[in-house]
Parts: sequence; structure tokens; C-alpha cells
Amino acid sequence: MLQIDILTLFPDSMAAVLGESIIGNGIKKGYLSIDFHQIRDYTLSKQARVDDAPYGGGMGMLMQADPLYRAHKAVCKMRGKEHIHTIYLSAQGQVYNQKTARRLATLDNFILVCGHYEGIDQRFIDECVDEEISLGDFVLTGGEIPALAVADSVGRLLPGVLADESCFTDESHWSGLLEYPHFTRPEVWNGRAVPEVLLSGNHEKIRKWRRREALLATRAKRPDLWAKFTPTKEDVKLLEEE
Ligand SMILES: C[S@@+](CC[C@H](N)C(=O)[O-])C[C@H]1O[C@@H](n2cnc3c(N)ncnc32)[C@H](O)[C@@H]1O
Repeated sequence: MLQIDILTLFPDSMAAVLGESIIGNGIKKGYLSIDFHQIRDYTLSKQARVDDAPYGGGMGMLMQADPLYRAHKAVCKMRGKEHIHTIYLSAQGQVYNQKTARRLATLDNFILVCGHYEGIDQRFIDECVDEEISLGDFVLTGGEIPALAVADSVGRLLPGVLADESCFTDESHWSGLLEYPHFTRPEVWNGRAVPEVLLSGNHEKIRKWRRREALLATRAKRPDLWAKFTPTKEDVKLLEEE
């Protein structure tokens, strides 16, 4: 079972999101556990302060190192460990992708640290953080949304959380391709018909159609992924069937 511990100033709103649907069911069935820790509970300040103005001046406030450090230590102790792999969600981190999700899904536990305001005191990062992960090259107000994205994308890879492994091994970003398009009832909607092959019941034809559509979608939508992809002999043949 994977244990994820999240240090945040907004535990309730995060718990509400991850407690629902597929991840919520995965938690109920015991495939993973996600606990949220209110950083404010670990400050020694009587006013429950966790932030202060940055040295050297400048706009905004910074999260102080000490409440974060105390929260981090308490979680490690709670899990009976000296140290747990610790990730700071940061606009300066390595951009997150499925490869990182797969690596994190092999761990027994990890801690996600959500920054806020202008960020967090560098000394906490130097003391406790093993890696920084970014959701993309843009700036959010806090690390909560990226932490939710990491917990969700890792959680769904754990055995048992989804009905079958093929639920994610057939999906975009597993093997370097985007997924083929999907259709459901009705057969015709707004004058648009479902591709005939999908109604044929011929599994081999359907497999080939889906593979070709995945190749075409990747080539058209993500030339950067396509450039790194090595098509098989069958792929080349399928692409020639224009
Ligand atoms: C306003 S941001 C701080 C940005 C920081 N001053 C900088 O320029 O790099 C506040 C918090 O949001 C989170 N955050 C913002 N953008 C992010 C991103 N792209 N990926 C992951 N976390 C992000 C981080 O936890 C950060 O501490």
C-alpha cells in the first residue's frame, strides 16, 4: 500500500477532491492512503503564523522554514522513519510527466509539500526536500493543485485502483503515443456517425484501426512526442494505408 502525506495550509479542500471517485474508492479499499497535515498545527507562534516578510525586501510573504520542518519531522516520526522521500511542488521543479508518476508509484510512501504566498524559505528545501516537481511552466498561487495532480495520477497506477492494468497501459503517454479516439452511444449524434469498424465486432480490425488512429493523433497533435517515437514495421504499414 502506498502512503502519501501532504503538508498544506488547505487540508480540507484537498481531502474533499481526493476522497471522491476512483481515488476515493482506492483509499476505501486500502490500495493507498493519503493523509493531509495542516502546517499551521506545527507553528510555535501564538497567532498560528506560518509566514513572514522576505529578507532583502520585495513583494509578498514567505512560508517560514520552522513550521514546515516540524510538520515534516512529525510525519516522518508518525510513519516510523528517519526520512521519507520528500517532494516540493514548485514552479522551479522538473516538469511532471507519466514517467515520474510511474516512478513514484513504485515507492512505499512519499511526502508532498505545498508552498503558498511567494514560496517557502530555501533553508527548508535544502534541509528536507529530495526533489522539486512542477506542473508546468506557469505560476499558481499554491502547491495544492499540483499535489492533487500528482496524488491522483500516481494513485490510479496502483494495482487494484483501476479495474485492469490495460486501463492505463492503453492510455496516452504510456508507450510514447496519444490514445485513439473514443465513441459511445448513440451510433449517430448530431449527424456524426461512429466509425463503422467499431461496430464490426472484428477485434483485429478494431485493434489495427485504434493503433493507426493513435499514431495519427500523436503525429498531428504532438510533433514533439512523435519525433521521439520509433514506429514498428506494422505501424509503418498502417500509416501507409491513407
Ligand atoms: C506564487 S507560487 C511562488 C512562485 C515563486 N515565487 C517563483 O517565482 O518560483 C506559490 C507556490 O505555488 C506552488 N506553485 C506555483 N506554481 C507551480 C507550478 N507550476 N508547479 C508546482 N507548484 C507550483 C509552489 O508550491 C509555490 O511555493
